[in-house]
Amino acid sequence: MNSKGRKPIIAGNWKMNKTLEEAKKLAIEVKNNTLARAPEVEVVICPPFTALTEVASIIKGSHVKLGAQNCHWKDSGAFTGEISPIMLKDVGCEYVIVGHSERRQYFGETDEIVSMKAKAALAHGLSPIVCVGEHLEHREKGMTKDIIRGQVIGSLRGIEAEEILRAVVAYEPVWAIGTGKTATPEQAQEVHAFVRNLLIDLYGLEVALKVRIQYGGSVKPANIAALMSEVDIDGALVGGASLEAIQFAEIVSYEAKGK
Ligand code: PGA
Repeated sequence: MNSKGRKPIIAGNWKMNKTLEEAKKLAIEVKNNTLARAPEVEVVICPPFTALTEVASIIKGSHVKLGAQNCHWKDSGAFTGEISPIMLKDVGCEYVIVGHSERRQYFGETDEIVSMKAKAALAHGLSPIVCVGEHLEHREKGMTKDIIRGQVIGSLRGIEAEEILRAVVAYEPVWAIGTGKTATPEQAQEVHAFVRNLLIDLYGLEVALKVRIQYGGSVKPANIAALMSEVDIDGALVGGASLEAIQFAEIVSYEAKGK
């Protein structure tokens, strides 16, 4: 727990990367290199589906938690190519990313779909990492808050107060993902505070203050400490820099770097 009263959470989103052997190697390295920070920081890795089972056995009993990158909202059935929350729970996942901007952009996921996925994940004991974020054109037109408001309210629709405590919200400005352009800590904090206020409206102050809000978008060892020093930034969802264990471990150790 930090001074904000929330346990920081750093999650690695491996996206569509790593063969099975590569994933196993990376999981072992992440486990070994992040151990020192285990009491203060929650560490999550989200490999591709094909590596979940093997990675689960590598990190079993350790401080590293397992997450998936997507799920369907139904328990089972005729949905060719899809994976259900029950299956994810079965192989040892505790987290699942829902509504990542790449899912929204390339696979047509709407806020309604994202909320169904988040609800389904919660119903099966998984913690959804619910992603929101504006595109560059929205920011340039001064529409960031309108977009974020719509996404937060739409993606969390139907989620009760006791459920939101198990969820994580990730603010990922789309223009910062994989581009090397991080939002400044001030830009990120402004949106995080806005998201926190939306959570207050939806769930009340006491609950909203307990919900963790991650930042994502070109997080690197060099910028994590400044981001984490902001009052409403409770962790990071890391893409590119999570594919290499030493960089990811440096991000997890952000306090050591910041001092
Ligand atoms: P990035 O990706 O760190 O490579 O920008 C972040 C994400 O998409 O979660």
